[in-house]
Amino acid sequence: MKVLVVGSGGREHAIVKSLKKSTKVDKIYCAPGNGGISYDAECVEINAMEFEKLADFAQNNSIDLTIIGMDDPLVGGIVDVFEEKGLKVFGPRKNAAIIEGSKSFSKDLMKKYNIPTCGYEVFHSPEEALMYLEGKEFPIVIKADGLALGKGVLICQDLTEAEKAIGSIMLDKQFGDAGNTVVIEDFMTGREVSVLCFCDGSHIIPMTSAQDHKRALDGDKGLNTGGMGTFSPSPFYTPEVQSFCEEKIYQPTIDAMKAEGRDFIGILFVGLMLTPDGPKVLEYNCRFGDPEAQVVLPRMKNDIIDVIEACIEGSLDKIDLKFTDNAAVCVVLASDGYPVNYEKGKEIKGLEAFEEKTDYYCFHAGTKLNDGKIVTNGGRVLGITALGSDLTEARKKAYDATEWVSFDNKYMRHDIGKAIDEA
Ligand code: GLY
Repeated sequence: MKVLVVGSGGREHAIVKSLKKSTKVDKIYCAPGNGGISYDAECVEINAMEFEKLADFAQNNSIDLTIIGMDDPLVGGIVDVFEEKGLKVFGPRKNAAIIEGSKSFSKDLMKKYNIPTCGYEVFHSPEEALMYLEGKEFPIVIKADGLALGKGVLICQDLTEAEKAIGSIMLDKQFGDAGNTVVIEDFMTGREVSVLCFCDGSHIIPMTSAQDHKRALDGDKGLNTGGMGTFSPSPFYTPEVQSFCEEKIYQPTIDAMKAEGRDFIGILFVGLMLTPDGPKVLEYNCRFGDPEAQVVLPRMKNDIIDVIEACIEGSLDKIDLKFTDNAAVCVVLASDGYPVNYEKGKEIKGLEAFEEKTDYYCFHAGTKLNDGKIVTNGGRVLGITALGSDLTEARKKAYDATEWVSFDNKYMRHDIGKAIDEA
């Protein structure tokens, strides 16, 4: 079959690599893709937000299945456009992708259906928000309601910081219309765990767990990023935690979406906080995590096409989802200065070291092909993943492999997976 993947990051490269392992896939396209993806798939120069053009491409090239990797097109309704044209597509429709597209929607859903999360209030005007903040305990979390490239969550240590956050989100419109509404949440403490789940509208199957490192600098310091590295599985996600989440969080979320007439078909990313009072939902996303996909998909034993088709056909309960009994660590190689200012166009050397290696992956995020050479083209450049018999071995191998490639201004965190030493 012919498959089209929509997106251009490390997550989409991980999806493409999984498709390459499938016995059912003959040809892979990726729109728009990136420099590294172009070695594994035919890249198509169509932007992920050009829904009509993408659907026309799928129609004209007899694409059997399109997989949407990114949040923006999903929240914007790309799946609805494909379905209206009778095209097979994997991802939630617009009315279900709202679970990521609106933080107030997801918080209200959790409240209505008793899904564990922290206390919160929703505000549509800065005056009301500022009034509410008077006398609140700090730290407190302020979130822009809509999509904000992963930057719309601000943790405020005191009233002054909170007032500044409301000003920049609601008045200065730092995140555009995404900040017309804000959610103010209680601050939760504990371990963060990401669990990506396959969903067919009625059934939900969680994948193996992962943990992201969102801050730019070692020791969880610096600005929030899209993610500087991941490891899988999380040793903190015990069988007891998993049972609790399956009973109180995953299935209730899918049931709640169905009850609201918003059947969720696709990947539900549940961001969990393992608090002293038990697991609670931090956030939902409507797609694979990035860089969570880069440690979860390499460990999946099933043919990804079988699982995706079961999601679309509503027969996910027939799937026995299996992961290898090992571990994976992904270290992101970024351009120094990310996530604020960074240079592009630097040649990347040493990529051939990953060829023919089974335990190592070099997922491309911000790269492009320039005169036959791969050069940097974004803040997050590469995701270096290694598999090992356990997390300690995977971590050592991943860090060893980060030395195989070089480019000017290469930057990485040095403590990805360090938390595993405390488990
Ligand atoms: N790694 C976090 C995300 O994909 O949103």
